[in-house]
Amino acid sequence: MLVHINMAEQRFFSMNCLFLIFVCFLGLPNVIQSDSYREFSPKDIKEYDGSDPEKPIYMAVKGVVFDVSTGKDFYGKGAPYNALVGKDSSRAVAKMSLEPADLTSDVTGLTEKQLEELDTIFQSVYKAKYPIVGYMSWTVKENASHKEL
Ligand code: HEM
Repeated sequence: MLVHINMAEQRFFSMNCLFLIFVCFLGLPNVIQSDSYREFSPKDIKEYDGSDPEKPIYMAVKGVVFDVSTGKDFYGKGAPYNALVGKDSSRAVAKMSLEPADLTSDVTGLTEKQLEELDTIFQSVYKAKYPIVGYMSWTVKENASHKEL
């Protein structure tokens, strides 16, 4: 038996098909991926400062939280760059400084050169070497999308 459908119904079905294709192949993986990232408050990330050997070591740069556990010799307890972890250390990275006042995400007043340096290290060290586990909560509020980070 032949079933006749009119133009409006045809359009309705093809729109639904397009929607399903979008959700299955484009939309869903993005949703799953973004759900797997965690949002960190300064207190949350502090737990991962290398003082507990059972826990991974996390460090944030430009609001992006990286698992730097494989760099334990740099960042673990007693290691030279341990002061940088368990927090967002963008300012310290930009200035190549371990001064307590620079152990912050605040990049106010830095020179163009220091900000460029921060971007370079962000890309060539952190994004290249370490997996992203989440974002600092202030980054999530400021950016509707993480794609450019
Ligand atoms: C005399 C001073 C310093 C020397 C000789 C030095 C030396 C080095 C060396 C040789 C590496 C590369 C190690 C490797 O890839 O195997 C390195 C990496 C690094 N250094 Fe320094 N450094 C100094 C000061 C600093 C300071 C003040 C900072 C402050 C932010 C800093 C932050 C870093 C970071 C973030 C890395 C990358 C670690 C990684 O790959 O995860 N360094 N340093």
